[in-house]
Amino acid sequence: MCGIVGYVGRRPARELLLAGLAKLEYRGYDSAGISLIAGERIEAVRAVGNLSALHAKLGAVGGGVVALAEQPATTGIGHTRWATHGRVSEENAHPHYDTEDRVHVVVNGIVENYVTLKQRLADAGSDFTSETDAEVIAHLIASHHDGDLPDAVRAAFAELEGHFAFVAMSVQEPDTLVGARRECPLVVGRGEGEQFIASAVPAFLAETRAVQHLENGEIVVLRPAGTTITTAAGEPVERGVERVDWDEDTAEKGGYETFMLKEIHEQADTVAETIADRVARGAGVDLDEPGALDEALLAEVKRIVVVACGTSYHAGLIGRYAIEEWARLPVEMEIASEYRYRKPVVSEGDLVIGISQSGETADTLAAMRKAREQGARVLAITNVMGSQITREADGVLFTRAGLEIGVAATKTFVCQVAAIYLLGVRLAELRGTLPAERIAELVAELKRLPHCIEETIATVGERVAEVAEQHWRDEFFLYLGRHVGLPVALEGALKLKEISYVATDAYAAGEMKHGPIALLDDRTPVVCVATDSPVLEKMVSNMQEVRARGAHVIAVTTAANAEIESQVEVAIPIPSVDWMLQPILAVIPLQLLAYEVAKRRGLNVDQPRNLAKTVTVE
Ligand code: AGP
Repeated sequence: MCGIVGYVGRRPARELLLAGLAKLEYRGYDSAGISLIAGERIEAVRAVGNLSALHAKLGAVGGGVVALAEQPATTGIGHTRWATHGRVSEENAHPHYDTEDRVHVVVNGIVENYVTLKQRLADAGSDFTSETDAEVIAHLIASHHDGDLPDAVRAAFAELEGHFAFVAMSVQEPDTLVGARRECPLVVGRGEGEQFIASAVPAFLAETRAVQHLENGEIVVLRPAGTTITTAAGEPVERGVERVDWDEDTAEKGGYETFMLKEIHEQADTVAETIADRVARGAGVDLDEPGALDEALLAEVKRIVVVACGTSYHAGLIGRYAIEEWARLPVEMEIASEYRYRKPVVSEGDLVIGISQSGETADTLAAMRKAREQGARVLAITNVMGSQITREADGVLFTRAGLEIGVAATKTFVCQVAAIYLLGVRLAELRGTLPAERIAELVAELKRLPHCIEETIATVGERVAEVAEQHWRDEFFLYLGRHVGLPVALEGALKLKEISYVATDAYAAGEMKHGPIALLDDRTPVVCVATDSPVLEKMVSNMQEVRARGAHVIAVTTAANAEIESQVEVAIPIPSVDWMLQPILAVIPLQLLAYEVAKRRGLNVDQPRNLAKTVTVE
């Protein structure tokens, strides 16, 4: 998730772009760059590192467009990067440009068919200088460009597949910017004789509060005098200008009251980006990407051991159910801080998977090192390119959640689960443990997840608020789940602990009668993950056991389930997807419940007491 910004007007663009990027740095900060046009000259300056590195680079540039004091550039684009395709390097930083250096672009998102397009353009003479998918857009637009940038962008847009938004400019039309979006956000800031465009409103809020939203699949042409929005086919679209009254703090949170709530609402986009090009080619899963584990190795795996902490451990637990079910491989789950001090037996054919969103968690790193020293192959699943974990593994599978600021992990969790589902399906393909139709079915269901996540977030709010209103004063919550619902219950319980400081316990529902049921009385809220699964009936009878002790039963169900609805205090239905994929949806009402309880308790959900986002000590 990168940040893009553009300006066209009468004022010097350079400082406006840098100020905009500073407001977007929460989206990514491993490299940054700007391009400016002055007269017939266009120039890009890029630097690895956060914005201060770019400032230093710009300061060091003696001549050229960027330093043109006498005729400052009044058109430009800028970018701050969160690497997904290609290492963190200056060549891979944006803006990207075509071989003749005529068209410059900044891109956020994933181009799924970039390999095919790149090959075609390279055969036609384009000279690629980066490892990114994004650069293909500059060459593609240039290949269609005959002096009319909007037309060239429209032609290129029609050929591109994926989740992305971009802004392009050409030295032949110095007063024009063209932006286009497919799924990824892009907004326009309207000014008098000047126009802004960016991934998010905060980038230009200090300059204008007049905002025009671009709908999915639309293209916008910006010139100093105004903007023209069209469909991808070129039909004009009337779009009103709204006034945004956010204060700076809210702006930074994208209009949400907290980073956690913003990040919960980003889960559909980030899961879409995490699976995007990995399910784009044909009916299977393709994990063959830079830094990935060699597929020949994956095919030889005999046993998997997952090491992780906290929420990442819960993501691994869900992975265990999926990989055992689909790839028929034994999977062992290990709490990293325990594993590192045990004498684990590592055998030939073992693959140790370290899951860590930050990639810096000391216990997980040490557990991976221990396994590697004993000859295991190690795969890292992480969200941060260049993090320590990427240097401790034989291969990396990146989630693409973008920067997560809220201490309580939400979007990184669902992206970890999506990544481990991808791995599970790929292992099943490589081992031939699932028929092709079942693989195709699972891939089709994975592609439905972003939409189902959006639907879940849009529909569960009321029931969740009802439960929170009823129970926010309670000092103990019990969470129950069975089979792949158990890790969801564990994650829900952890979220409530973390941000509302309420005591919780999470149990395999079948274990209740072996002790924990003694905890229950007519005040206890019991949150049950009762989504469709091979053991749903067992789960329903466990819920009856709980109800019989007078407890308040709240159940997350798959779609409206009348049988369960009639037996519980509150049922929270979520959309129906393949039963093994339900956890990605079922966790969302539990994230929101923890959030609503913490809010009613007046707590700081983004920085809960005693916790750090990244635990680099043991
Ligand atoms: C989750 O909300 C917590 N922030 C914490 O449990 C976290 O999952 C754990 O510290 C692991 O972090 P990692 O994924 O960065 O390794």
